[in-house]
Amino acid sequence: MASVFCSNQIQPMIALMVGAFLVASAAGNLNQDFDITWGDGRAKILNSGELLTLSLDKASGSGFQSKKEYLFGKIDIQLKLVPGNSAGTVTAYYLSSQGSTHDEIDFEFLGNLSGDPYILHTNIFSQGKGNREQQFYLWFNPTADFHTYSILWNPQRIIFSVDGTPIREYKNAESIGVPYPKNQPMRLYSSLWNADDWATRGGLVKTDWTQAPFTASYRNFNADACVQSSSGASSSSCASSSNTANWFSEELDTTRQERLKWVQNNYMIYNYCTDIKRFPQGLLPECNMS
Ligand SMILES: *[C@@H]1O[C@H](CO)[C@@H](O)[C@H](O)[C@H]1NC(C)=O
Repeated sequence: MASVFCSNQIQPMIALMVGAFLVASAAGNLNQDFDITWGDGRAKILNSGELLTLSLDKASGSGFQSKKEYLFGKIDIQLKLVPGNSAGTVTAYYLSSQGSTHDEIDFEFLGNLSGDPYILHTNIFSQGKGNREQQFYLWFNPTADFHTYSILWNPQRIIFSVDGTPIREYKNAESIGVPYPKNQPMRLYSSLWNADDWATRGGLVKTDWTQAPFTASYRNFNADACVQSSSGASSSSCASSSNTANWFSEELDTTRQERLKWVQNNYMIYNYCTDIKRFPQGLLPECNMS
């Protein structure tokens, strides 16, 4: 009953904000979700669309993007990172719009020497401005198996989660003058490339090309999202989906707030909101919100 009530309550708002968008819950064939965009054969969709692999060698990395553009949604993908010595490699998975005032929500995985921890790097751009990095170690080996990395993006907040555990919450701070991503539809992008000038221990550890090709794997993509209608028709909207309400107004309950605190206390290794040296003129305004 609660969800019915909630759904009825927010429907007019959703219809208003995203009138020309259709809701979609996509799961299944990665051929239908993604286009391989670069890498000259290094990116592959395998097993009848169940698995996607990106690879990197000395000549090139590779990447793909979603066929659809989203304006708010809950995006999940399972990812198994480059195993062994992955130092110098970066696997990125992010939502982004186009242009100099673009919005962006980033997950980036910075590889490491065998046995040393990956860094999970996150950032948020609004109106072309980023500088909102938080970085984490993971509490498991992300190369041993697939794990689920999720972006929840609704009008009030952005929540990054790993296997359902929230690691970062970014709240809409428009009330104190901070632009929030809410008008520009974003596509999902992913790539694997060489970044050994900065990625591992700040660029000290270089990519070992004798280990190439490096491969990262993806599966089980799911997008509960408002999708830009290809026909441009405005007849349908997000509100037509029964499961829209779940993520469109989602916030962290007490249990998940505790989990978030656990991650931030034990696994967060960088937070732009505490880096006073970097922002001598003062931290960004949203850092002073509770
Ligand atoms: C790699 O391992 C080193 C040593 O444990 C650590 O300092 C660093 O944060 C790890 N991650 C990256 C991406 O450099």
